[in-house]
Amino acid sequence: NTRTPFIAGNWKMNLDHLQAVATVQKLHWTLKDAGHEGDGVEVGVFPPFTDIRSVQTLIDADKIPFALGSQDVSAHDSGAFTGEVSGAFLSKLGVTYAIIGHSERREYHSESDELVNAKVKAALKHGLVPVICVGETAEDLEKFGASAVPVGQLEKALDGVSASADIVIAYEPVWAIGSGQAATPTQAQEVCAVLRAVVGRVLDEDAAARTRVLYGGSVKSSNIASYMREPDIDGALVGGASLVVDEFAAIVRFQK
Ligand code: G3H
Repeated sequence: NTRTPFIAGNWKMNLDHLQAVATVQKLHWTLKDAGHEGDGVEVGVFPPFTDIRSVQTLIDADKIPFALGSQDVSAHDSGAFTGEVSGAFLSKLGVTYAIIGHSERREYHSESDELVNAKVKAALKHGLVPVICVGETAEDLEKFGASAVPVGQLEKALDGVSASADIVIAYEPVWAIGSGQAATPTQAQEVCAVLRAVVGRVLDEDAAARTRVLYGGSVKSSNIASYMREPDIDGALVGGASLVVDEFAAIVRFQK
């Protein structure tokens, strides 16, 4: 396939803007020192909102080849929505991607499939690429198997989305997030293939072939290569390990 591997670091609510700048700078130099020349891998960093401006300034000034993403986006364009951040503001700041529907937002902020769908549409409207997160809890897994819940979440997230839309999907089994209990490559591949088929059915076959499907959940440098060998896994959404520069750099260099 022609999909560019994507290694995305979701920092969650970690690193203030000074730590963010230091981390991005260190990651850049660590990769350079290791002789990493991009190697056809796209690197994305997803800092907290308050860090985005500082990281963007650094990336721009030092021509650092990392894509910038937000961890959420408002479903609204502007107006009386206290605490919300518009996709219009994010794209003006050089943000390319927006994580939408992360399980932590679904669980702790009661985000519904309908809200996720509205956020996906808002992101696209403002020229952001939504990174749509789906995944089953341990309870779902036991009751319905691995793919039923993520399939339902993805179908609803993509409702009314144009087949030509640029999107990324992240399959994150909730039981694998931050638990050290990663899905096996075979388990992850199986669900990622099913999710790609959903894209084919809801959007079209071209979208299915083009769309990157990432795996997320306890990814580290020691297991990344095993996921990247799978035909339907195009990268990783990395949480904890993205905060440790040497570890994240090693994940980016999974081919080595
Ligand atoms: O968005 C990232 C995921 O929630 C994975 O987190 O790598 O700490 O398991 P983790």
